[in-house]
Amino acid sequence: MTVSDMAKVELHLHHEGAAPPAFIRGLAAEKKVDLSGIFNEHGGYHYKDFWDFLKVYEAATSVLQTPEDYARLTTAVLEESAAAGVVYSETFLSPDFCGDRDVGAWREYLAAIREAADAAEAEHGIVLRGIVTCIRHFGPQKARETAACAAETAGDWIVGFGIAGDENAGALEDFVWSFDCTREAGLRLTAHAGEWGGPESVRDALDHLRVERIGHGVRAIEDLALVDRLAEDGVVLEVCPGSNVVLGVYSDWRAHPIHRLRERGVKVTVSTDDPPFFHTTMVNEYNRLADAFEWDEGVFEDIARTSAEAAFCDVATKDKIL
Ligand code: ADE
Ligand code: ZN
Repeated sequence: MTVSDMAKVELHLHHEGAAPPAFIRGLAAEKKVDLSGIFNEHGGYHYKDFWDFLKVYEAATSVLQTPEDYARLTTAVLEESAAAGVVYSETFLSPDFCGDRDVGAWREYLAAIREAADAAEAEHGIVLRGIVTCIRHFGPQKARETAACAAETAGDWIVGFGIAGDENAGALEDFVWSFDCTREAGLRLTAHAGEWGGPESVRDALDHLRVERIGHGVRAIEDLALVDRLAEDGVVLEVCPGSNVVLGVYSDWRAHPIHRLRERGVKVTVSTDDPPFFHTTMVNEYNRLADAFEWDEGVFEDIARTSAEAAFCDVATKDKIL
C-alpha cells in the first residue's frame, strides 16, 4: 500500500472549481460561448492571482446553465475524485450559479446533481454530500437568499452551509443572519477564513458565524494563542495545501504550516479546493505532503479518520465510508 492507494475523505471541494477544463471547453463549444481567454496554450485554466482566479472561475461557470449541465459536471467531477481514491466527498454548491437563488429552480438543479451522484455512487462507490455556499463578494443580501435555499433543502443530502469568495470583501458580521438561519434549519457550518485574511479573520468566523469547521484556516499559525484555541475546541481545518502553494499563500510545500498545526494538536484534514485550477488531485496532495514532511501511512490514516469524524453527513453514512 502506498499513500496514493489509501481511501480518502475530502471535505473541501468547489463543484465548479473541480470542472475539468476540457469539460468546460466542450460546454462552451456546444453553447457557442467564447471562453478562449480563460485557457492557456496547454488547455489548462489561466489566471494571474487569486482575484483573477475568482473571475476565471465565474467565467467558466457561465457555461453551466441548466440542471442537465450540472448533472454532467457531477459525473465528470466524481469520476476524477473516485480515480484518486476518494470514498466520500463534500462539495460546495452555490444557488447563485444554480438557478439564481430562486428556491424552485435551485430544487431542480439539486435533483439533477443528486441523481448523477447516485449513479456515480453505484458505479464507483464514491459518496457525495452538498454544502450550500454563499459568496462573500456577492454581498450579504444574496447570502440571505442563498441561506433560504439552503434551509429549504436541508436534510440528509444538503448537510451544511458555508461562505466562500473574496475573504477581504465586507465584514463577516454582515453574514450572521444567514448562518443563524441555516443553523436553525439543522445545517452544520463552515467558513472560508485564514486564507487571505490573518488570524482575526479566523476569530471572526468562530465568534460571529459560530462555525465548527474552517475552510483553510492556515493563517491561524500567525497567532499561537489562536492555534491553541482551535486545538482545545476541536475546530477542524479543511486544509488545501496545493491550493495555497499555487496561489502563493506559501512559497512552497515545506513552508506550509499544516505540519506545525497538526503537531500543536489542531485537527487538520486535506482537500484539493479546485483541483484542475491548481494542477492537483488528492493523490498529488498526499504524495507532496509525504515528501515535504515525511508523513507515513499512519499520519494519513489519522487524517482520514479525523475527516470522517468531521464530515457533516449522518452517522449511518459515516459508518459506510471508512
Ligand atoms: N472559491 C473557490 N475557491 C476558493 C478559494 N480557494 N477561496 C475562496 N473562495 C473560493
Ligand atoms: Zn475553497
